[in-house]
Amino acid sequence: MLSIEKYQEAFLNFLKTNNFERQPKGLYNPVNYILGLGGKRLRPVLTLMCADIFQGSYQKALKAAMAVEVFHNFTLVHDDIMDDAPLRRGKVTVHEKWDINTGILSGDAMLILAYQLFEDYDANTFKALTKLFSETALQVCEGQQYDVDFETRNDVTIAEYLTMIEYKTAVLVAAAMQMGAIIAEADIKNQQSIYQFGRNLGIAFQLQDDYLDAFGNPETFGKQVGGDIIENKKTYLYLKALEFADANEKQRLIHLFNTETTKTEEKIFAVKELFKSTGAAKATKQAVAEYTNKAFKVLEVLDISEDKKQLLKTFGSNLMRRNV
Ligand code: IPE
Ligand code: IPE
Ligand code: MG
Ligand code: MG
Ligand code: MG
Repeated sequence: MLSIEKYQEAFLNFLKTNNFERQPKGLYNPVNYILGLGGKRLRPVLTLMCADIFQGSYQKALKAAMAVEVFHNFTLVHDDIMDDAPLRRGKVTVHEKWDINTGILSGDAMLILAYQLFEDYDANTFKALTKLFSETALQVCEGQQYDVDFETRNDVTIAEYLTMIEYKTAVLVAAAMQMGAIIAEADIKNQQSIYQFGRNLGIAFQLQDDYLDAFGNPETFGKQVGGDIIENKKTYLYLKALEFADANEKQRLIHLFNTETTKTEEKIFAVKELFKSTGAAKATKQAVAEYTNKAFKVLEVLDISEDKKQLLKTFGSNLMRRNV
């Protein structure tokens, strides 16, 4: 096993030597731009780590790890169009730097490039990887559609929200981990357990993402703080605020999310105050911890050594405490 930093380094080296310097530039420059902007590289690191955890070799998992990261970056390019987001990783988004058509086509190309990265695996591994990948990618689309549908709905439940974030975010984290296990030829029971670990961690991760979208530090967060509020996203913060609000607060919150009259900065400020005063901010932090602990609970049934479990716990704890 390597340290988390070493897996990161190995992935970054692979990415650097396998960039997409091709023609036409109009198609591939945005691909290299978004992939070069950095980011936490959380999913590929998990793929590499899991290959090693189940006695495989992380080197063999590099292409799958890259497929996951290229796919993730494709979803970000299209997500930023859908969310009308100006900033990504502290830089201007692809559709703002170029235009929407560029974002659509370069994004499409990235989805295909991701699939190509599985081509060199032997037949059985290839089949298992692509089957999981296709199922996951379709769920991400489903989650994204729910996310958009919820913007204009006022009756979204916590259960619906949890399904939405499971699909748009958690299944990819889960699949990234299972792919490592597939490459290492882990048995199916361990594959399923590591998937469940990733799924719970992914839910915690998106809850934290929602929290940071409102309460992150604009200097370091890298995305537009308050973007979810501007877009009327039905996040955990919002749903819990509605649940905890008194009649007056509830009316104000619903009004803020259903009219275009309030100035953006005022809307963000007022909504954040309600998120805090109702106790929704605190409840969101608690939910992050709850799902992280659910993930840790899955480790108990995993057939791996204690030090490997510890590495996964360290990874989960760091994610829970993250600021970006
Ligand atoms: C952002 O993912 C999209 C979500 C699923 C919340 P990350 O927070 O992993 O983004 P990067 O890759 O580190 O920039
Ligand atoms: C992103 O959810 C999920 C996917 C990209 C599939 P968000 O819309 O919350 O992600 P950010 O906050 O823009 O990174
Ligand atoms: Mg977004
Ligand atoms: Mg989105
Ligand atoms: Mg977000």
